[in-house]
Amino acid sequence: ALGDADNGAVIFRKCQSCHAVGPDAKNKVGPQLNEVFGRKAGAIEGFRYSDGLIREGNNGLVWDYEHLDAYLNNPKALVSDTRMNFRGLKDEQERHDVLAYLRQFSAS
Ligand code: HEM
Repeated sequence: ALGDADNGAVIFRKCQSCHAVGPDAKNKVGPQLNEVFGRKAGAIEGFRYSDGLIREGNNGLVWDYEHLDAYLNNPKALVSDTRMNFRGLKDEQERHDVLAYLRQFSAS
């Protein structure tokens, strides 16, 4: 089913220990997630990324829907040496919902 942004706001609680999104969002343990759709991986100025995420961004990884879905399902399957230490959202509907929520904070 299509993502439900309202439920995605609830799912995003699983991300909030490390990430902020929305007006005045700041980097925390993880980078702020405004305008993440369409952005090159590892590109927030002033955030200290892993070498792995920087490498993948330089190799052409862009956060389109498909790659966000794969990263949220299993971060280390997409980027083996990422330092996002999160087991992932194994439920496909939860991923669609949280991505519908995040998309509200991206122009693309
Ligand atoms: C990176 C999303 C949970 C810590 C990222 C990126 C995305 C993302 C899209 C890449 C951003 C970029 O390239 O600028 C999410 C979502 C989560 C979640 C939607 C919840 C479903 C978490 C949690 C933690 C975390 C719980 C901390 C335990 C990080 C860190 C990075 C990162 C440290 C940078 C990774 C690196 O440099 O390799 N996250 N994340 N994230 N996230 Fe998360």
